Amino acid sequence: PARLVVLASGTGSLLQALIDEASRPEYPAQVVAVGVDRVCEAEERAARAGIGSFRVRVGDHADRAAWDRALSDEVAAHRPDLVVSAGFMKILGPEFLGRFQGRVINTHPALLPAFPGAHAVADALAYGVKVTGSTVHLVDGGVDTGPILAQEAVSVLDTDDESSLHERIKVVERRLLVEVVAAVATRGVVVSDGRKAVIPSE
Ligand code: GAR
Repeated sequence: PARLVVLASGTGSLLQALIDEASRPEYPAQVVAVGVDRVCEAEERAARAGIGSFRVRVGDHADRAAWDRALSDEVAAHRPDLVVSAGFMKILGPEFLGRFQGRVINTHPALLPAFPGAHAVADALAYGVKVTGSTVHLVDGGVDTGPILAQEAVSVLDTDDESSLHERIKVVERRLLVEVVAAVATRGVVVSDGRKAVIPSE
């Protein structure tokens, strides 16, 4: 199976979806380590599953570049085939992307290029869109700008607040992420024009 390092900052429900899927022998990937940038529930989920985790905090480093290097070294030590950013709330730096670009998958709770950034669900609600959703994409040097691998729409209800909408999006995100990771682990990705990502069919 492909080796996954999963990066997370929060409750880690997306991480949990990957851990659960990877426990099935036919799933083509395994979570070999979990990296976090703060104390968070994702670390406990890793521990419960018997998966090692490492914490690399920005505040423990002289500057952002030193943090970027330390995170890159920790991730590299686990020899990942793919890195999955699953609710990791930091922008990955140039050193990291130099080492892993093309193999880093992120999940974002909106239909990119609409509502990039850290407040996608609140921004979509504030704008008043009737449809938002989930995007799984390759990470490049920008903020949520990399080639899109998969998207799925989620309707916004008149009664939604940020938390109810985010929960419905996360249900879709978990399924989409698990599917895309399996597809990329098995068949790879081809990117043309620096933009259009295609996962070759079997
Ligand atoms: C997910 O909705 C993910 O897309 C989002 O954080 C949530 C993490 O959920 N990521 C971003 O907003 C990145 N900009 P989780 O902690 O339950 O896995």
